[in-house]
Amino acid sequence: MSAPIRKAVFPVAGLGTRFLPATKAMPKEMLTVVDRPLIQYAVDEAREAGIEHFIFVTGRNKAVIEDHFDVQYELEATLSGRGKNEALALLAKDLPKPGSTSFTRQQVPLGLGHAVWCARELVGNEPFAVLLPDMVMKGEPSCLRQMVEAYNETGGNVLAVSECDPAETNQYGVVGIGAELSNAAFRINAMVEKPKPEVAPSNLYINGRYILQPQIFDLLSKQERGAGNEIQLTDAMLKLMEKQYFYGCRFDGEVYDCGNKVGFLAANVAFALERADIAAEFRPELDRLLARQG
Ligand code: G1P
Repeated sequence: MSAPIRKAVFPVAGLGTRFLPATKAMPKEMLTVVDRPLIQYAVDEAREAGIEHFIFVTGRNKAVIEDHFDVQYELEATLSGRGKNEALALLAKDLPKPGSTSFTRQQVPLGLGHAVWCARELVGNEPFAVLLPDMVMKGEPSCLRQMVEAYNETGGNVLAVSECDPAETNQYGVVGIGAELSNAAFRINAMVEKPKPEVAPSNLYINGRYILQPQIFDLLSKQERGAGNEIQLTDAMLKLMEKQYFYGCRFDGEVYDCGNKVGFLAANVAFALERADIAAEFRPELDRLLARQG
């Protein structure tokens, strides 16, 4: 039996420059898809996969993320006074259990690998998940849940992957496909960070969800700068791959890259169209807008 995945790390220290001016004073992770912040989608996904402890690697200007996962006494008292029980129930449902969140800071922006390394003390010596909140997943079961199910059979390290346009491999970490396993999973035999299309090992990209063994921290601590002069998680995973197995889990669902504007807008439309309380009103509005463009 593989050790259970109880902890998840959310790297949320990035500056969000692609969304300025929205992100001048507000963390990009608080941008909303319909009415839930990006970070809430990632936490919901982790919770559905059985995660018990939520570790946020934050930075300056990110305090509001911590507030988001706390009780808001004044707000709740006001809602309660006004008899807004539905809104209160919604807040209560989303609130993490006391003691189940931890916050640490990445003091300098040295890359994703460095951000994950900043969580080493909080994770300790057990396998853990990493979720990049920019990548919003739509799938049932959730992406991390699908990975945990694969991991329960394979053990080791598991990365969720999705197909990208072969011309866009240079935007992501891309994996090479080794032996196929029974359940949409396969052995990863290569990993390249942001390869040009002509040298990409496949068009399956690492979509921002990882299950990693704790030995990754030793490798991250020794690590040199890689692509973009940053400490890359992919480079440390490549080193770990010399000693441990990595598996790719083909995510059955849709990925919205909310780190870019088009992906973010598409996510808003896709999630709104599936919301029972909004879709009926939103769909004709969308049709009208599209017809006007047409
Ligand atoms: C990071 C990872 C990359 C992965 C991507 C998913 O890149 O380094 O391997 O495919 O996230 O979003 P970044 O988006 O930080 O450039």
